[in-house]
Amino acid sequence: MKLAALILALSEVATSQAATRFLGRVNPATRELTWPGTGVCFTFTGTSASIALASVNGANSVDLFIDDGLPEVISNVAGSSIDTSVLSLGEHKVELRHRSEAIFGTIILGDITLNGTFGKSPAPSRQIEVIGDSITVGYGLDGKYPCTNTAAVEDNPLTYAALAAESLEADYNVIAWSGKGIVRNYASSTPDTSPLMPELWTRYGANDADGSYTFPASWDPQAVVINLGTNDFGYLGVRDPLNATVYTDAMVDFVHTIQNHWPDANFFLLTSPMLSDSYPTAADAQKTTQRNALQAAVDQIGNKAHLIDWPTQGPDVGCDYHPNAATHAAEADVLASAIAEVLNW
Ligand SMILES: *[C@@H]1O[C@H](CO)[C@@H](O)[C@H](O)[C@H]1NC(C)=O
Ligand SMILES: *[C@@H]1O[C@H](CO)[C@@H](O)[C@H](O)[C@H]1NC(C)=O
Repeated sequence: MKLAALILALSEVATSQAATRFLGRVNPATRELTWPGTGVCFTFTGTSASIALASVNGANSVDLFIDDGLPEVISNVAGSSIDTSVLSLGEHKVELRHRSEAIFGTIILGDITLNGTFGKSPAPSRQIEVIGDSITVGYGLDGKYPCTNTAAVEDNPLTYAALAAESLEADYNVIAWSGKGIVRNYASSTPDTSPLMPELWTRYGANDADGSYTFPASWDPQAVVINLGTNDFGYLGVRDPLNATVYTDAMVDFVHTIQNHWPDANFFLLTSPMLSDSYPTAADAQKTTQRNALQAAVDQIGNKAHLIDWPTQGPDVGCDYHPNAATHAAEADVLASAIAEVLNW
């Protein structure tokens, strides 16, 4: 290869890497989409784009958005690339998002190639970090009870957090995993001693080692949303009811840990739409108990913390009683308003 051609080829590679931007918490060294909502975005002038898949592990669903339209849903990602259709010659925006969670599978992205030339894809200055369990994953969101949750019916882009961030024109990182708690995981007959959410939160990719996240300077969220407790509160038939003081203390500790990294962030602590004051017993009053426990955490953390009360959901639910698209959309408005008010967005 002649020197001039080599320089041109190298500059094209450099342009393609500078022009594409990962979405969510993606390690640029591995290019692996693990957490829900992770993906890649870019703009280009031309007629088509192809996102190579270096490997697809397990089951994954993704959304492919072109020019901010309704997504093309790929329910079970397979093959060696995800391609746009042939578009009209012009400027286009492409956004790929992982809908499902790492329990089901992950995708390692290869290069992105175009019939066209890359444009700019500047990152928004507004950033929101969201930490949660199956509710924040979008577990069963596309199903209608009774149904079985799969990668295909998980739908992170339609969760309260993704919709709130979109409406605020903010970037968002979702760190969420079904069944996880802050002091204990989902209640099962064999106790689940796998890592809790504060430990998983320290991983770059969901399956990477604890402590692998590098806290790059480019991610310094002004808002951190935490929605944990639904699994901690579960107990029926397998363990004692949750000690609410233990829950409060763990929430305060976790927020303090996060504040060590992002001291200026405001914290939005959500109650669970899946807890109610009637189940499993009226005496438990789990919804009120959780609200009071989170209010106690807010009081201890101080004026950077805010309680967001997500009402107990109605009878229309997704798989395994998870909030459906309508419940998520309603809460997205509540969360977006709260963040906008606190941060003046
Ligand atoms: C690439 O884009 C040009 C227009 O810029 C078009 O004429 C051509 O057919 C396209 N090629 C392919 C393979 O789509
Ligand atoms: C709940 O936890 C707190 C803090 O660890 C402890 O002081 C208290 O005794 C516990 N309450 C019950 C009923 O176990």
